[in-house]
Amino acid sequence: MSKLILILAAQILLLTAFGEGGDFARTMNRKHFHKEEKLTHLRVYWHDILSGRNPSSIMIQPSVSNSSNAFGSITMMDNALTSDVPINSTVVGQAQGFYAGAAQRELGFLMAMNFAFTTGKYNGSTITILGRNTVFSTVREMPVVGGSGIFGFARGYVEARTKWFDQKSGDATVEYNCYVLHY
Ligand SMILES: *[C@@H]1O[C@H](CO)[C@@H](O)[C@H](O)[C@H]1NC(C)=O
Ligand SMILES: *[C@@H]1O[C@H](CO)[C@@H](O)[C@H](O)[C@H]1NC(C)=O
Ligand SMILES: *[C@@H]1O[C@H](CO)[C@@H](O)[C@H](O)[C@H]1NC(C)=O
Repeated sequence: MSKLILILAAQILLLTAFGEGGDFARTMNRKHFHKEEKLTHLRVYWHDILSGRNPSSIMIQPSVSNSSNAFGSITMMDNALTSDVPINSTVVGQAQGFYAGAAQRELGFLMAMNFAFTTGKYNGSTITILGRNTVFSTVREMPVVGGSGIFGFARGYVEARTKWFDQKSGDATVEYNCYVLHY
């Protein structure tokens, strides 16, 4: 009984609204965040198109002159995310951000991008991916560091696997399996 009273008292304390005199932050009771954490698996195909008249991915900073590994290059992208491998399959969102050559002795990029979903209940929600992408590895794992909308409080990781790569143009289709914990 006294334990219950203690818990109630603690909750009342935590529920106290911001006071006056410069208070701007308070600790909240997580119990008031009534949702249960969910794990969502999203599988999308990321199309990096550098060639043609309407590239979705554009190098805005070339690599340093003596680098054979794209070190120092920066490429901005607004790549389509589709539900299947063909680029003309259903678009479910856009991958917006950049990748930058970040390794001197191998081909490895820093990826910084948002997957902005545009369909169904995910419309308007995003996840943010920030990680290391050694593109010639079979599987590249990168962290999901956050999200918005449905994916508020998101964390998790993605697995990227190249499905198709055109050596001449650099165009590529990459499968992203995203495992996202969120509320
Ligand atoms: C490029 O050349 C500079 C100067 O010679 C050298 O310091 C640097 O390590 C080289 N970078 C790469 C990526 O080889
Ligand atoms: C996608 O393109 C392929 C090859 O160009 C074609 O055979 C297929 O019918 C297209 N699919 C859709 C859904 O447009
Ligand atoms: C997604 O949301 C935008 C903005 O609210 C809206 O204009 C668009 O029609 C929606 N798309 C779908 C497929 O629901």
